[in-house]
Amino acid sequence: DWTMRAFREEEIQKIRSQVGKGRVICGLSGGVDSAVAAVLIHEAIGDQLTCVFVDHGLLRLDEAKTVVDLFRHHYNIPLVHVDASKQFLGELEGVTDPEVKRKTIGRLFIEVFEQEAKKIGGADFLAQGTLYPDVIESVSFTGGPSATIKSHHNVGGLPERMNMTLVEPLRELFKDEVRKLGRELGLPEIFVGRHPFPGPGLAIRCPGDITKDKLDILRQADAVYIDQIRKHGLYDEIWQAFAVLLPVKTVGVMGDGRTYDYVVGLRAVTSTDGMTADFYQFDMKFLGETATRIINEVKGVNRVVYDVTSKPPGTIEWE
Ligand code: XMP
Repeated sequence: DWTMRAFREEEIQKIRSQVGKGRVICGLSGGVDSAVAAVLIHEAIGDQLTCVFVDHGLLRLDEAKTVVDLFRHHYNIPLVHVDASKQFLGELEGVTDPEVKRKTIGRLFIEVFEQEAKKIGGADFLAQGTLYPDVIESVSFTGGPSATIKSHHNVGGLPERMNMTLVEPLRELFKDEVRKLGRELGLPEIFVGRHPFPGPGLAIRCPGDITKDKLDILRQADAVYIDQIRKHGLYDEIWQAFAVLLPVKTVGVMGDGRTYDYVVGLRAVTSTDGMTADFYQFDMKFLGETATRIINEVKGVNRVVYDVTSKPPGTIEWE
């Protein structure tokens, strides 16, 4: 793709002239955007870049390992991996309000990130994988008379506090362009093609209070669901698909015994930018098979439901 090749070269020059001999720190979220930004910046300035991956314990199954493998082994990009899951889950204990969850996670994220940045001697620049829709959305969500729908968590506030200048090489791109750029940079397809994942992670897919046990159940159910979608060749047709663990137990029957376990909600939508979305029309056979697999393979779940709400009026996430 020649446009992306040209964009890559141009951005590399821009990054070099912006950064000079300065030090850059980049927070990785596990998602596509921050990874693409990091790889591009690394190509421009090499080891002047350090990546910090704050693992808040709210990631999907094996996600942390995937990121660490990609950066340390595939690319050899300096990476600090901080396992802060105990701290995050500790502070989230008993928190049920979605906005309080987001704010708690956002605040802790900044604290942990700041500590790690200090440990490595600070930096002059903070790199972020901000996309064009992020720029628009933060304006429209906070600028108008209407109340904020969801306070998207990012590292806002950090640059001023730490006296850092932002480096945002993806600011003019849409998601599909970021994916093209990722491919151009040689990121593995399985990583580049991944569905978007929210900063607060599984915290907002676990309505009500969050516990390690619930998160483990959710991770297992989500992994089975995504495996089903991949096996049926549907992954790339869908903008986002994920499981939600409902804070509800219902009665079921297994063999000749009664069960009393959690309900899992499945969500899948098509969209071009996440601003509006349609629920994905799976066939019933697929849904039935997936429900059976989840109930058989995931201990603690005995009922599965499918969400047929589009956006609007629903949002993509449940919180
Ligand atoms: P909603 O649920 O608002 O989601 O329809 C639209 C898109 O944004 C993602 N999302 C978030 N991303 N922090 C993020 O970084 C957040 O707090 C957040 N909330 C929602 C969501 O996954 C979807 O892609």
